[in-house]
Amino acid sequence: MKKTTQALITSTALTTALLASASQAVTLNIPCTTGTGFVSCEKTAQEWAETRGHSINIVTVPFSSSDKLALYQQILASKSADLDVFDVDVVWPGILGAHLADLGPYTQGAENEHFESVIANNHYNGKLVAMPQYTDAPVLYYRKDLLDKYNQPVPKTWEQMTATAALIQKAEREDGNDRMWGFVFQAKAYEGLTCDALEWIDSFGGGSIIDGDGQITVNNPKSAAALDLAGSWVGNITPQGVLNYDEEGARRVFQGGDSVFMRNWPYAWALGNGEGSAVKDKIGITPLPMGPDGKHSATLGGWQMAVSKYSENVEVAADYVLYVTGKDAQRNGAIIDGRLPTIAALYEDPDVLAANPHFANMREVLENSVARPSSITGEKYNQVSNEFWNAAHRVLSGKSDGADSLSQLESKLERIRGRRW
Ligand code: GLC
Repeated sequence: MKKTTQALITSTALTTALLASASQAVTLNIPCTTGTGFVSCEKTAQEWAETRGHSINIVTVPFSSSDKLALYQQILASKSADLDVFDVDVVWPGILGAHLADLGPYTQGAENEHFESVIANNHYNGKLVAMPQYTDAPVLYYRKDLLDKYNQPVPKTWEQMTATAALIQKAEREDGNDRMWGFVFQAKAYEGLTCDALEWIDSFGGGSIIDGDGQITVNNPKSAAALDLAGSWVGNITPQGVLNYDEEGARRVFQGGDSVFMRNWPYAWALGNGEGSAVKDKIGITPLPMGPDGKHSATLGGWQMAVSKYSENVEVAADYVLYVTGKDAQRNGAIIDGRLPTIAALYEDPDVLAANPHFANMREVLENSVARPSSITGEKYNQVSNEFWNAAHRVLSGKSDGADSLSQLESKLERIRGRRW
């Protein structure tokens, strides 16, 4: 190591030591998700460490929500402090809540700045176990230039979207663009497919898998019709490869210029308009299409930050969580990574709106959002979701039709429920 670098490190360490007295300075193990948000995650964590005089050890964790959950459950089941904080998907408080520290004593009312419904969802047994970092609601991305070229309106229904996708795909291919597809989304067997399939079903009036009273409602003709329509896309307007796409898989195809439409979360906007993107300045955003009865639907997503009960530094970790979920961090998250804030005032911030003009219309999307049945199924949610995404995957891969797959799913869900959720 060069002397100057060594000196720099020593002096950074010195400053750090001066900020927090030796007895207080600690090292936190912090997860950052591999992929697009990694750089911001690491940068914010470093800023926190520098201002507070603590150190951080970044642990790279998987992108897929399902893989991440498996990892976190393993760490928490062994009561290990391998991670002091966790990023928590909106559907996990019931699954992980028992392992998370009560943040109530540390927030000093910070939770009152955030959307009430998100804060309500972050309670477990009456305790606030996580603070919101961003909310999430998917949209339909479309190629403005291609709709203009073929004189097509922005589709409002799934039927229109299917027809427009087919028309443009065919015309583009005839024009020599033989990689062109109509529509990409998430159809790998994981939590992302649960989100996509739930919004197809809900937009068709088929409900939300399990209703608020715990009744299993998913086995109905409207849900079956929704899945059958999605099944008809694969191999026609959607590549077979979609059966293995997560959000990033879909984004790569769309951002490479090879699809007319894409279902994705708002994060794909900033990247799609970034340097090197084949579709920079060619993208439009609109609510996901409606089903036959005129209902739009968007699965509610979002991420929170929580502190492990097994951390040796709960108070310091809580400070970190408040830092990365606070207004400044959420503002940066919106401007740099296109994330939807959970603090209402940020939707009026001129810089946030300049970076994300579609945020002005996100209220409508959020109002039409459908929640996954995680509150009612609590700890069993992941098993429920796993059966649901498998049921959707069977239809998309042509192994079954909607009606058969949902009838199988109903029996499986009954078995998981047992006497009660
Ligand atoms: C997004 C959502 C999250 C969801 C996940 C599925 O990250 O914010 O709630 O579970 O996608 O892939």
